[in-house]
Amino acid sequence: MASFSTLNLSPSPKPTHSLLKPLIPAPEIDTRTQIQTPYPKLILTGPSQLSGHVSISGSKNSALPILAATLCCSGTSRIQNVPDLFDTRTMASVLVSLGAKVEVLDNEMLVNTDGVGSVEPNADEIQKIRGGFFVIGPLVARFGEAVVALPGGCNIGVRPVDLHIRGLQSLGAVVELRDGKVQAYAANGRGLVGGSFQLDYPSVGATETLMMAACMADGTTVLSNVAREPEVVDLARFLTNCGACVDGAGSNKLVIKGKSQLRGCECVVAPDRIEAGTFMLAAAITRSCISISPVIPCQMSSLIHKLSAAGCKIKKCSHDTLEVSAVSGRGGDNLLSVVVKTGPYPGFPTDLQPQIMALLTTCNGLSSVEESVFDKRMSHVSELLKLGAKIQENSMIVLTHVCYHVSVLNGSSLVANDIRGGMSLVLAGLAAEGTTEISGVAHIDRGYENLDMKLRFLGADVKRLMPLAS
Ligand code: EPU
Repeated sequence: MASFSTLNLSPSPKPTHSLLKPLIPAPEIDTRTQIQTPYPKLILTGPSQLSGHVSISGSKNSALPILAATLCCSGTSRIQNVPDLFDTRTMASVLVSLGAKVEVLDNEMLVNTDGVGSVEPNADEIQKIRGGFFVIGPLVARFGEAVVALPGGCNIGVRPVDLHIRGLQSLGAVVELRDGKVQAYAANGRGLVGGSFQLDYPSVGATETLMMAACMADGTTVLSNVAREPEVVDLARFLTNCGACVDGAGSNKLVIKGKSQLRGCECVVAPDRIEAGTFMLAAAITRSCISISPVIPCQMSSLIHKLSAAGCKIKKCSHDTLEVSAVSGRGGDNLLSVVVKTGPYPGFPTDLQPQIMALLTTCNGLSSVEESVFDKRMSHVSELLKLGAKIQENSMIVLTHVCYHVSVLNGSSLVANDIRGGMSLVLAGLAAEGTTEISGVAHIDRGYENLDMKLRFLGADVKRLMPLAS
């Protein structure tokens, strides 16, 4: 039986934080049950022609683990360029529920975890987002114990945490699952110890959890077959600035020398490559020309490769600015089909699969899309069909979806079921003739800061319908 006596595990203390801006209310969906209410809705009238420039926000998937990593640090961490999203604010609530002080001012968060007095974050907050679970690594590494509810997040397939757990066990943690919570503590009663662990699959979240844990373990840890995603590199950069010793970020092997203490530091979250890619696809599906910045062009290689193969022109205007042009001389059939298969970085990102599928329904020829990261990330297909898209599921070839020739899309009423799938409906709505009405918008809002404003700025006809005040 596990003992949890080294820290007081009484209910989380009442927040003593100072939030300059209140945490935003829960969205109109419950990510655990996928219950939806119809509002807000996005109303798009197309087809749209886009032009001009769009600013890319900070990366959600970099900000979330960096916020979790502040639990490793004494003193205050100042995290800038945090996108103002439901997920980042939920992560702030997770930290606050542990006793951390979090100040939010526009896109900046000041986090001080010196007052943390609990190792059990609020389960309701953890279950709203996948990234909340990542606190298990820093908690058990710094405080010797953690009790963390199983996470929520988008409904895109089975999302186990076995790699996180087995990795922590290889660092000397005892881990048990009880009442939907993962309870972990250092077996030696003192702290984690360096070890070796090979991930069966290069999971982004497990790599991040284990990197944070290893930074404070006693001795050296070698993690192999780790994720190489830019978000992992961003986290390693933050931890290194806090005094950690992490080698190999961006490769498939990490060597981490543990330190007994890390100090909070300042950091600027990198631009969101998935938001950037989504706007590049918006330019393509509307056969428009737009520029985007800031963006790190080398992180966009797999998308640039597919867009170029389809016939788009991508120009690097400066070190952090790209111009995407798909302007057609004759009608809208100038782009060609391509074959897409998602995979871990540097492969084609699963987080852009639904959006590129929307584009491919408008391209000339037979495209195919294979999702290899998540087993149920296809909820957008049934909605795209309602617009008139020609997509067929080919069960003979594992999870391949074939988009046939040029589909003429016509507006319809659609439901977003997850962040990226929802965004693919927005892209299709931009290209479709007439009015497209999208509900389940809270899903989309989780990943895209100021979405409607950015689209309107580019010339799209987008309105947001809010519920009538009762
Ligand atoms: N997996 C396991 N066991 C584990 C962990 C993962 O089998 O212990 C499997 C998953 O079931 C999945 C695959 O590994 O089939 C990849 O999952 P991964 O752990 O890499 O994903 P994640 O860390 O849960 C992050 C992003 C996702 C993004 C994926 C892949 C965050 C908060 N989320 O999720 O982002 O799709 O990496 O790049 O960083 C999104 O932003 O819309 C989103 C879903």
